[in-house]
Amino acid sequence: MKFNMEHSHDEATTQLLDAALDARNNSHSPYSKFRVGAALLTAEGKVFKGCNIESCSFTPTICAERVAIASAVKFTTIAISSDLNDSPITPCGVCRQFMREFGKDLQIWLVCPDKRFCRTTLEELLPASFGPDSLEKAGGAKISNRDQILQRYKYMQVRIQDRHGHTFFVSRKVNAVDPSLPTYVRIPPIPIPRAWVKHIRPLLVGAETTPCNVISGVLLPMVEPKWARRIDTDATLDFDFTIFERTFQCVYMDPPLLLPDEQPKPGYLDISQLTAIPVHQMLVPGAFLFTWCEKELLPDMCEIAEKQWGLKYVENFCWVRHQTNNHIAKLPSNYFRRSKVTLLIFRREGDLEMRHQRSPDSVFDFVKPRMAGDLNDRKPDFSYTVIETLLPRALCTAELPDPDRLIQLWMPADCHRTHWTTIVQKAMAE
Ligand code: THU
Repeated sequence: MKFNMEHSHDEATTQLLDAALDARNNSHSPYSKFRVGAALLTAEGKVFKGCNIESCSFTPTICAERVAIASAVKFTTIAISSDLNDSPITPCGVCRQFMREFGKDLQIWLVCPDKRFCRTTLEELLPASFGPDSLEKAGGAKISNRDQILQRYKYMQVRIQDRHGHTFFVSRKVNAVDPSLPTYVRIPPIPIPRAWVKHIRPLLVGAETTPCNVISGVLLPMVEPKWARRIDTDATLDFDFTIFERTFQCVYMDPPLLLPDEQPKPGYLDISQLTAIPVHQMLVPGAFLFTWCEKELLPDMCEIAEKQWGLKYVENFCWVRHQTNNHIAKLPSNYFRRSKVTLLIFRREGDLEMRHQRSPDSVFDFVKPRMAGDLNDRKPDFSYTVIETLLPRALCTAELPDPDRLIQLWMPADCHRTHWTTIVQKAMAE
């Protein structure tokens, strides 16, 4: 096998190579004196390290790769290093078979101490392999429908090019057969199998009578949020946002908007009134606006964000509303069924291409019965997961105690959240 050695040109790659090289330092190899380090990358971007551990009775000796895999199991890329500088180390046969468990298309990087490395895949190192699917063909272990579908889509390191012609690698969900094909996951027919939706957690006994957090539709005992700030207001629109000066990395909001042609109702706004919020004056360059929006209002919302606030459209996520019987909700509306709602993402300046790189672009979550005073449906937790993964350094924490980086508007009082500044719309809380 010929190795095409290359150098890293981006930070994420360098990080994984360094982790693999660093892992050698823990190697326990008094018998072979052959140090091996491995570092693997999970789809969530976490890195797990492993080193070889030898035993005086030899048999228990274990390779660096399997030590790393044992601590993460699901991974997309593994980098392996040794002290050999002339040619990179390749994984032993046992490790190759062990990795096969987690997919044929695993990316394997073979790293030299001088940080040159070579990219290969498990398929290349272990062709015509025996894998979990072989057992299934024989009528053995059955993989669930959901897992079968998900197996067709893998997180892979994909080389992408920005508009300036710079190439870099990102972890992306792609079609396992041909990564250049568009990625989509077909929704199974109704009723959607239970495995497609989230865990259903029991409501806590007595929760109705005690204050609670209901963010994900699950009543949780109210835990006072840490590293958070709550500001209550009677009318979010009239709030003096000029007290915040261009410090926020993200504004997240769920404004109670009237639909076109809908009669005015207390607490609800006409979308044009949103321009009263000086979003552009709150965001630092490169910062994001996340806003929930019903289909009919998408053009107006985009126009306000782009023309009034000078933001650029980046991406949208979609919440497919579910009933608890796993049917997609068909809430009535004048023109079409209200089965989903969109979370629009805009950005102030900045060229980063971020479509579909971090999360799936739709989430299935239940419609929850509205609590007294709620003007909108409680939105699924995934919006926080997206924002907090995208902007980990924006969270207000003990190390970074400034609360002026993440702000959410039009929140019911019990959606006051750790790490955030929350503007609670009082009327909604009552
Ligand atoms: N080793 C690994 O850790 N990974 C490999 O892929 C090849 C071999 C270790 C096992 C043993 O401690 C030493 O290298 C010599 O075989």
